[in-house]
Amino acid sequence: MDVVKVAGLTFYLVLGAHLLLLVTGAVAQSSAEKYRAWWQKEARLGSAEAARGGNILKFRFEKAPTLLVAAEEWLPYTKVTWYNDTFASVSGPSRKLLDVLSSTLNFKYRFVRGDGYFGALEKDGSWNGMLGMLHRQEVDMALGPIGVTYSRSKVANFTVPLGQEYFRIMTGRPRPLPDPWTIAAPFTWMVWICLLVSLLVMWMVSFMVAQLVIDFRGPRGLSDHLLTVFAVLVSQGVTWEPKGAAMRITCITWMFFSLIVTSYFKSSYTSLLTVKSLPATHDDLRDILNDHNLTFLLEDNTSFKAFVQESEQSIVKEISKELKRRGRFLKASELQEVLERDLPDRGHAALLEEHTIKKYMSINLSKTGRCNFYMSRSYSYSIYISMAVSKGSPLLDLFNARILSLREYGIYAQWVTEELRGASHCYLASNRVTEIAPYTLVDMKMSFVLLGGGTGLAALILLWDIITHWLLVRRPNKASKITRK
Ligand SMILES: *[C@@H]1O[C@H](CO)[C@@H](O)[C@H](O)[C@H]1NC(C)=O
Ligand SMILES: *[C@@H]1O[C@H](CO)[C@@H](O)[C@H](O)[C@H]1NC(C)=O
Repeated sequence: MDVVKVAGLTFYLVLGAHLLLLVTGAVAQSSAEKYRAWWQKEARLGSAEAARGGNILKFRFEKAPTLLVAAEEWLPYTKVTWYNDTFASVSGPSRKLLDVLSSTLNFKYRFVRGDGYFGALEKDGSWNGMLGMLHRQEVDMALGPIGVTYSRSKVANFTVPLGQEYFRIMTGRPRPLPDPWTIAAPFTWMVWICLLVSLLVMWMVSFMVAQLVIDFRGPRGLSDHLLTVFAVLVSQGVTWEPKGAAMRITCITWMFFSLIVTSYFKSSYTSLLTVKSLPATHDDLRDILNDHNLTFLLEDNTSFKAFVQESEQSIVKEISKELKRRGRFLKASELQEVLERDLPDRGHAALLEEHTIKKYMSINLSKTGRCNFYMSRSYSYSIYISMAVSKGSPLLDLFNARILSLREYGIYAQWVTEELRGASHCYLASNRVTEIAPYTLVDMKMSFVLLGGGTGLAALILLWDIITHWLLVRRPNKASKITRK
């Protein structure tokens, strides 16, 4: 008996609790609708009247309603930090815009936490993200800005565009790689060969002159002369005194030639060590398709994903196919962390909006002091970005009028520009540092001509010396007569 009683009691209690829940739910639902109906009616009538009066900006709510606002992070427009499920801190140009709307229209607002996405159509026909919240009337507006697409425009109403966004490719900026061949880079190989030949020739010349010069007091060994010739080339002194005009001119010529060549080499080598040439990176969709080891980073449930899936363009179809294999889809909130961790190692490329890339560059620059990212020159796709309100909301015209005036005075664009301050040299900087071309034989012909001319002159003088000496030796009597005079 007792068991039956207890069971019956429990049954009635559970039933009662359910009924209570249903009733309170319905009451809450209807009160939310009533609440919405109240301010929507006022907005509709009021804005119509103000529009008839010629200025829709004149409308203000008599008593401030509290609007529910969906917000997801999209730098540089919106920065969102959720402290708990009900309390968020939102900043950026979107927040400034919301505050202007709220103060001029006289409404209060409360942020509602979503699933972290902007919104895309699910397979079952429902919408996720902020667009889903708008569609289900859970919020009155989505702060956005949101990229406007045709399918999205069917479930919510978009305000006039706040701006335009271009999708570009973001990769790690290549770091200068140490190149062991930099030492050879200042000259072309022809110059190096000529230099080597000149060294060998000068070695022989110097050696032969030493043998032939009469009364020569320096070293006569083959290896001594090799060392001397090389020492002069690398700006070292000669340890013995070059005797005789022929030897002197040979030395002077070689020294002067060495001076010129080492100056070319030193200055070019120094600058090559400082200014590195960087390898090319990914500038359009074709580049990233061809790099088969690259992982693509994308934000999930964005208009770009929908575009990639629906586009008929052949290159976009290829991208779509590759995305299945090597695409990584991220939430807006985890984007920054993943980019900073994965992009610099060069195995990844992110497909993002231009302003977003600039903002991440700016954040990263202030963190690390370096430009670690690269933004592609070309863009693949562009969209208009707007704020969204729930379908048929009377807020649309009221917002439009205010956004238009903010846009006309360039105020919104200025807010966005302020967010990007500081990093412009990172995204304007050219990725390809022009390589300093090596000096060719033509550039250096004067030094070789000098070398040839000098040694030629020395040879002539040597010849003259030998001839006169030979004449004197052959006719010693005559010579002694001359000296005796
Ligand atoms: C959420 O955080 C805010 C600020 O830290 C606090 O005032 C509020 O009471 C918190 N709400 C809940 C439900 O914890
Ligand atoms: C709002 O969206 C609906 C649904 O797409 C559309 O029919 C309507 O024209 C839009 N209203 C305005 C004012 O654009």
